[in-house]
Amino acid sequence: MTSNVDTGARIPGPVGSPVLGQALELRRDMLRTLDDGFERFGDVVSYRLGPAALRRQVIAVHHPDAVKQVLTEREVFGRRTRSLEVLTELFGRNLVTTDGEAWTRQRRTLQPLFTPRHVLEYAGVMREEAHDFLTRGSVTAGEVVDLVPLTENYALRVLGRTIIRDELVMTDVIGAFNTLVPLIGKVVRERSMKAWKIPLRVPTRETRQFMEVRAQLYGLIRQILVRRSQRTDTPAEPDLLDRLREARDPETGAALTPREVADQALIMLVAGHTTTSNALTFTLYLLGRDPELQEAVAEAARADGLAPADDLVVAAIKEAMRMYPSAYAIGRRTRTATQLHGFPVPAGTNVLISPWVTHRHPAYWERPDVYDPSRFIGPSDRPRYAYLPFGGGPRNCIGEHFAMLEATVLLRTLLREFTITSESADLPVSQLISLRPTGAVPVRFTPRKARG
Ligand code: HEM
Repeated sequence: MTSNVDTGARIPGPVGSPVLGQALELRRDMLRTLDDGFERFGDVVSYRLGPAALRRQVIAVHHPDAVKQVLTEREVFGRRTRSLEVLTELFGRNLVTTDGEAWTRQRRTLQPLFTPRHVLEYAGVMREEAHDFLTRGSVTAGEVVDLVPLTENYALRVLGRTIIRDELVMTDVIGAFNTLVPLIGKVVRERSMKAWKIPLRVPTRETRQFMEVRAQLYGLIRQILVRRSQRTDTPAEPDLLDRLREARDPETGAALTPREVADQALIMLVAGHTTTSNALTFTLYLLGRDPELQEAVAEAARADGLAPADDLVVAAIKEAMRMYPSAYAIGRRTRTATQLHGFPVPAGTNVLISPWVTHRHPAYWERPDVYDPSRFIGPSDRPRYAYLPFGGGPRNCIGEHFAMLEATVLLRTLLREFTITSESADLPVSQLISLRPTGAVPVRFTPRKARG
């Protein structure tokens, strides 16, 4: 059918409604809209976001070569997208929200704190927290429990303890933060998706709620800093806040300002919390549906060792992130006119990468809807950008090694002592800031018999 194909656009795509184009569909169910677009139009698809005359469009890019281009050509594909503008309004200027020289300086300064060797220093905290996870009453009693709060609590405590290492502040901050997380998701999504962004100084229901969430976030930062300045004891181990303070730009020797230190700590909590807990929830749920596979992963978990190697435990997590990538959409905006997958693209165009779609691309993934961790065992000739749960290029996830270590520590610890059974046949997902289960994910943990 060609009647519903917008032949005016150089890049193929659906026509959508005359006034809004595809804006509503993308807002209501981005993943289904992108899946449909990929099926109908292929590797590069243009979606109109308003009347044709306005020429507002977003180009979805699914082919690994084009994905690579978007993520690696930083001088062409910038980060000034609507959602980044909204995140900057909320969190200020940090590693996630800055671009250009400010970002280069911050990234250079922070990178050494997140090397595989460096994050291993946090393995002890992760092990303790994994143990805590196992000894929770509801887990040991073998009742049906909801995975979501369990993994969220684990991820937040690990981050809290590594970033703040102050039990008192952490308990307060974590409590407040847990309440804020769903609200952050809501206000950011609502504001990012609006066709016209109302200035924050204009009081509406939406802007007032946004300002309220922002005030609470800044209240948290203040609380951390005040308590810090009052502290007289010297903890045995420096935490991430100490390390952020000590960090120096390797080229200029400059330190971060106190405000930058606090903002970075906050954004680490935000960027590293639900992303990691979702990865764990999805992995545990999928293993809980396949006892035979789970046994094989448990066998690998019994082997010694901590650093993520490419064993079945790591593969189980990677494969869950293939099927359910927390960062299901990554946005960029062209700074200059360019060519993308053979099509001309003007400056100022929104470009969208969707790990969700690319992770199911039939040219690179056989039977993409089957959970099969063995895809990640041994060599593969798949292109690098066919799999990108942590993004790629210069702005890849700085917390990748941290998150992988954190997830493997919990999975290894858990599978050594318990089997897990998923109590629901399907897993509906919601597309908030990250991709997450819509509701509870009921599972049952059963202690393994003492091994003779
Ligand atoms: C499974 C867990 C995680 C996933 C799936 C994930 C995913 C991602 C992705 C896809 C990006 C790139 C976004 C883009 O290109 O626009 C990113 C960036 C980032 N992530 Fe993660 N992340 C995870 C855990 C973490 C953790 C634990 C931390 C911190 C401790 C963290 C901190 C960050 C930061 C600061 C950035 C911005 C980096 C920059 O622009 O230089 N993430 N993450």
